Amino acid sequence: MRIVFGFALALLMSPAAGETLVERGAYLANSVMVCHNCHTPRGPQGLDLSRALSGGSQVFDEPAFKVTGSNITPDKDTGIGNWSDAELKRFLVSGIKPDGTKVASIMPTAFYTVLTARDLDALAAYLRSVPPVRHETPAPEYRIALRPELPTYAGKQASEQELSDKLARGRYLLTIAHCLECHTPEGPSVVHDFAGASGKGGRTFKGPWGESVSPNITPDPAAGLAQWSDDEIKRAITQGIARDGHKLKPPMAYASYASMTAQDLDAIVAFVRTLPPRN
Ligand code: HEC
Ligand code: HEC
Repeated sequence: MRIVFGFALALLMSPAAGETLVERGAYLANSVMVCHNCHTPRGPQGLDLSRALSGGSQVFDEPAFKVTGSNITPDKDTGIGNWSDAELKRFLVSGIKPDGTKVASIMPTAFYTVLTARDLDALAAYLRSVPPVRHETPAPEYRIALRPELPTYAGKQASEQELSDKLARGRYLLTIAHCLECHTPEGPSVVHDFAGASGKGGRTFKGPWGESVSPNITPDPAAGLAQWSDDEIKRAITQGIARDGHKLKPPMAYASYASMTAQDLDAIVAFVRTLPPRN
């Protein structure tokens, strides 16, 4: 009986039956990792999905660099149509391009080191499957030779098997969704103070929406989410509605997270509740 139950559980947790690599990649790219947030142009109505992944509208202008989300469609001249799968997969976990140069740390590769072998295959398969769009994005400008690196938060590659554990799955999803990149304050000497203040919030985001500041998402009783119910946290993530009912501003991609599976959303909320409380 026990063996049968264990087997049934394994089936339940294994990748959705019949899900192809391209479908898995689409789910990761569109619902969890939200590549569009930086790589798809924005029009007056929001993201222009008719030119999906052909290069972002936002310019990241910092002391160390000035960059825009690249064209990552398979267009051979202006996109990544000439990259091999191996080059793309290496890039996703290292930020190193086929020509050996490293991209600006705005591209969250520091969080992608945990990606399972299957999820890397899935992302590569999906990126190959999207329509090529010809669109030249401005060349990156790197202003100082030694650019600050994101401190390693993510850790080493996860295995598919680990993801059948709810909390491990939540940690994995929270990592590749780079939630803590936005919800951790800048440190005194490092870009993000993950060691001292993971999840404490306090980063400011400026854009067409004006200004938003990331809140504390640790279970701290006063400053964080301790008083929130699971449903309230899920409503904030997927609908952008705060506990008191007010509408939350971008750049968090609420509408994309709304297409996450119930199982993945449960896992994220369960893991968020285990973050060390900070105030
Ligand atoms: C927070 C913003 C952000 C997110 C989210 C993001 N990227 Fe990027 N990405 C960038 C920026 C900015 C660059 C260009 C950096 C540079 O030129 O130094 C980049 C560069 C790249 C490149 C290199 C392309 C080239 O021609 O050099 C690839 C490939 C890429 N991203 C794929 C992805 C994929 C796939 C996802 C989702 C799984 C993703 N990115 C999510 C910001 C982002
Ligand atoms: C690109 C940056 C960014 C990313 C990525 C991001 N967030 Fe947020 N998040 C914000 C900002 C900014 C706000 C506050 C918006 C406002 O106050 O209008 C917010 C609000 C929230 C809230 C509401 C909390 C409150 O007190 O109102 C929760 C919960 C939350 N985020 C959880 C998450 C989780 C979980 C993830 C990953 C799945 C995530 N966020 C990814 C920037 C981000």
